[in-house]
Amino acid sequence: MSERERPEGERSELENFSIVGETAIGWDAKTAPNETVDEEGRIVPSGGFGIHDPRAPSRRVYEDPEVVAMREEFRAKNGWKAIEICAPHELKRIARIFRRDGYVVVKDLLDTETLERFREGCTRVLRDILAIPGFEGRKYITETGRLPHRYSYGTASASRHMMHDPVWASMIDLPTTTPILTEIMGSPDYFVSGGGGDLALPGAIEMQHLHTDGIDMGANPDVRLDYARSVGLVDIPDDKAFADLDFRTQRLVIERTPPSMTINFVMTDLTWENGPIRQIPGTHATVASPPKPEDEPDWMRFAALVGAPAGSGVFRDHRAWHSGTPNLSKEIRCLPNLEFVPPWHDERHFMKSMPHDIWETLSPHGQQICRHIKQDSGVWPFGAGVMHPLAGGRKAAHKASKEAQRN
Ligand SMILES: [Fe+2]
Repeated sequence: MSERERPEGERSELENFSIVGETAIGWDAKTAPNETVDEEGRIVPSGGFGIHDPRAPSRRVYEDPEVVAMREEFRAKNGWKAIEICAPHELKRIARIFRRDGYVVVKDLLDTETLERFREGCTRVLRDILAIPGFEGRKYITETGRLPHRYSYGTASASRHMMHDPVWASMIDLPTTTPILTEIMGSPDYFVSGGGGDLALPGAIEMQHLHTDGIDMGANPDVRLDYARSVGLVDIPDDKAFADLDFRTQRLVIERTPPSMTINFVMTDLTWENGPIRQIPGTHATVASPPKPEDEPDWMRFAALVGAPAGSGVFRDHRAWHSGTPNLSKEIRCLPNLEFVPPWHDERHFMKSMPHDIWETLSPHGQQICRHIKQDSGVWPFGAGVMHPLAGGRKAAHKASKEAQRN
């Protein structure tokens, strides 16, 4: 596959775009619907996070009649009738909804300055992701194993996370989010496991398949029971081990102790048109698999969190079914995230993605909750700072960074 010179118009688009407001980024008609690529950018069949959408329009063109018809359908149907939106101080309500639905939307997490800082970070890093021109006339390289025009700040980073970026790191201990995480987790002794987040360029016309971000195998049941009991997440007598509990109580223990969760921060108002995340309530507590795209009922297709305003965030139990939705607008939809694990988590699973120097800039609480992802002083997290849509490019950067530091 041959790389091409980027024409001047596209170069200036990339230099000047913002993630806020209309942009010329996206809507690349040369990138076929449902076109997915492997590690090196070769076109491959549906799979991984690139499950094809059988309902996608046949052309990636803003004014194409199929796209216009789809936009009309989304205008009429997309979004829950009325999503519940909490204020940051409503801690009990937030935790109650999170445990009931597997997610909760909270407004006003970011003040004006913090939101601007996050938007700048998202724009700057997206410019890096899109920097390499696409193959054979395409504007962009599609990310390995994903649908076109959809990228993840996490998986596009050669270190798998964005914890080396001062902007992402500065969001770890906010006055609005720390009390909420403490309430949901039952204690302030939780950990950050990383962060990144996802984005959909305008013209991401395919619906992402419903999925979970983590399958709960029910590991460490007695550790979970002890923890849940000690912080009051369940009311179970001390003399009972997990195996002594009846089935419903066992289920409750597992349900109340999510192995991991995320906050997705909302950079611009989520609308019926710009590809918001969709969430299926209650699915954090089910072991069934989500339906295949062709089997999805309309109520799941249109279960997007329309109405979540800029500066808000979605606290998500990773087990709950969710996905990105089509971005039929002319605006980029970014949902950068931070990922957290509870105090009972097994610390052997942490990736060291945060440089020591960044860790030193954090608050005492921030340092405490990031201690397992911090790389040693003088060691740069392998691959951190290299963004590449292709897994092959990321692997090479990760390997080079490891070797350079070994020598
Ligand atoms: Fe996901």
